Amino acid sequence: MKDPSFRRSLTLFRAFMSEQEDPASVYTLLARDAADQVERYAPLNGKVVVDIGGGNGYFTREFRRRGAQSYLFEPDPGELGDRQPQGPRDTVVADGYLLPLADGVADVAFSSNVLEHVADPHTFLSEMARVTRPGGLIYVSFTNWYSPWGGHEWAPWHYAGAERARARYERRTGHPAKHRLGENLFRIGVGPTLRHVRGRTDVDLVSARSRYWPVLPELVTRVPGLREFATWNLLLILRRCS
Ligand SMILES: C[S@@+](CC[C@H](N)C(=O)[O-])C[C@H]1O[C@@H](n2cnc3c(N)ncnc32)[C@H](O)[C@@H]1O
Repeated sequence: MKDPSFRRSLTLFRAFMSEQEDPASVYTLLARDAADQVERYAPLNGKVVVDIGGGNGYFTREFRRRGAQSYLFEPDPGELGDRQPQGPRDTVVADGYLLPLADGVADVAFSSNVLEHVADPHTFLSEMARVTRPGGLIYVSFTNWYSPWGGHEWAPWHYAGAERARARYERRTGHPAKHRLGENLFRIGVGPTLRHVRGRTDVDLVSARSRYWPVLPELVTRVPGLREFATWNLLLILRRCS
């Protein structure tokens, strides 16, 4: 699907709406879409790709399908499910802050929707940069806090306050929310993150865009204030400096 385009955004949006009923189709579609985005900058065939915080491995499987040597790093065994990418050898239970990898081994370091779940995103990015070879690519995307989806399962009520939103969610569903602000979900902004990556000496910023937006996805990230709401999900493409 052409990216950006209304057709693609609509297809992804519809898929998200059916995430509860059919997660496999949603994540397969999302993984294909993300792999297409990576391949705009780096062909995957034959490359070493590390998927950090990759959950149950849909992205890793898609990278492998395209000929990459891809490895899943996931700290929570509960997220892995029973469908590991190719077998346990290619799946590592490891924290993104401290990857069991030598410097510069990866052609591509990939992380989808993880940064908002870590307390120290700067250290997380440093580790992604460390394991990427000079000239290699870093794909990092996250849902920013003031995005309509910033509160995750309790969105959009997070605009009224995180605790109130979580309590409302639990009251209405009768089960505990997966996320709690300050524990496994953090307020992360588009502006502060862009300033941070621009100030880094280990990476160059190649592209900053809304991951799903159908028109002018780069433009929205350039408008202070508006970008915190409208970006929805920020996608950064970084290049590891020599
Ligand atoms: C919303 S899920 C995203 C899963 C998958 N990447 C995707 O886009 O569908 C967030 C993932 O981040 C992982 N995570 C949380 N803290 C992490 C850390 N410090 N290092 C690596 N992964 C982490 C969680 O275990 C979870 O699998």
